[in-house]
Amino acid sequence: MIDRPINIAIIGLGFGAEFIPIYQRHPWANMAAICRRGQAGLDEVGDQYGIAKRYQDYDALLEDPEIDAVHINTPIPDHAGQALKALRAGKHVACTVPMATSVADCLEIIRVCEETGLKYLMMETVVYSREFLYMKDLHDRGELGRIQFLQASHQQDMDGWPNYWPGLPPMHYATHCVGPVLGLPRKDAEYVSCFASGTIREELHAHYHSPFAVETTHIKMRDSDLSARIYRSLFDTARQYRESIDVYGSKRSVEWPLIEGHPLILHTAKRPEPEIPEEVKCPDFGHLLPPEIASFTRAGVYNEEDHQHLSFLQGAGHGGSHPHLAHEFLSALREGRDPWPNARQSANWTCTGILAHESALKGGEIVRLPEETFSR
Ligand SMILES: NC(=O)c1ccc[n+]([C@@H]2O[C@H](COP(=O)([O-])OP(=O)(O)OC[C@H]3O[C@@H](n4cnc5c(N)ncnc54)[C@H](O)[C@@H]3O)[C@@H](O)[C@H]2O)c1
Repeated sequence: MIDRPINIAIIGLGFGAEFIPIYQRHPWANMAAICRRGQAGLDEVGDQYGIAKRYQDYDALLEDPEIDAVHINTPIPDHAGQALKALRAGKHVACTVPMATSVADCLEIIRVCEETGLKYLMMETVVYSREFLYMKDLHDRGELGRIQFLQASHQQDMDGWPNYWPGLPPMHYATHCVGPVLGLPRKDAEYVSCFASGTIREELHAHYHSPFAVETTHIKMRDSDLSARIYRSLFDTARQYRESIDVYGSKRSVEWPLIEGHPLILHTAKRPEPEIPEEVKCPDFGHLLPPEIASFTRAGVYNEEDHQHLSFLQGAGHGGSHPHLAHEFLSALREGRDPWPNARQSANWTCTGILAHESALKGGEIVRLPEETFSR
């Protein structure tokens, strides 16, 4: 429990910089320090937001006794190593997705968290998006009836992105799909089977020894009759940027539209056929947040008048999730409870993708999740 403003340091100031004004306005946070490589970029952000404490060296930041918690937004290969270093230095950790690139690193983060009592939150944006919160609200109120099936996709053209992206196996960045299908029913993945499809151009194969254009995974959930389907593509597949979740219930189902920016479709059972589907305006969930940060949910919101998303590019707030994520991290630290997703859940979601790719390499063989990632 931390019963005073929590001193936050943000590491990595590309995507990470979007969280600075949120922490600055949050009543329980003190936006204490920033860290990135390159003095010019560091000063530019520090001057823009009036932050005095600036580190180029992550290890030096971890020696700073004022810092309670780090929020990591560095390139994917650095996430696990930096999270482990922070935990070993006694800092709580929030980290952008994915948690790690290996099962072993996921298990080590769980082990250190459980040994030290420090908190870990993987900052999965989709499970705090307004679309997910809308589906969760329906589910919590019993409006969906019994959940029968979930599916999610995440397609993006990553040509031209930094050096750790080219050739990345689609399932190595799968938490935007895994998170919602496991997070809505609050279940763990027990085992996966993944089929690969198509081939990316040859120059991309060597980076990760992976030629696959699309990977489709079936996830069997533990202690449940549910399974889910997820699919992803990153290169050489023509598709607008899309994150999507569909949930099918006995009473109602919700589908994410095929074109980004269009309203969700709500299907209600036992109505005359033409009345089964209806377009719904996804509500804003800013009321769940302290008023000082509530307006941050509205970046990229659907605009009814001109039927446009104001912006649905990367960095447009990812469904209004950023303030919810910051608030969940701060609330968990303040209350001394685990955040959602905690270390085990974050590991279960991340390992689902890593092991799905392993399954694809073995022609779809079933691969089981490690028990250490199951919720207690
Ligand atoms: N929806 C989402 O959840 C979402 C969206 C965008 C990006 N991301 C994640 O955020 C991360 C960063 O993405 P980006 O597009 O901002 O990348 P980027 O390359 O633009 O920025 C990386 C930042 O990390 C800093 N950095 C790199 N190594 C460092 C080190 N050792 N110590 C301190 N700082 C270091 C760089 O200086 C830079 O500021 C990625 O892991 C990406 O997956 C997640």
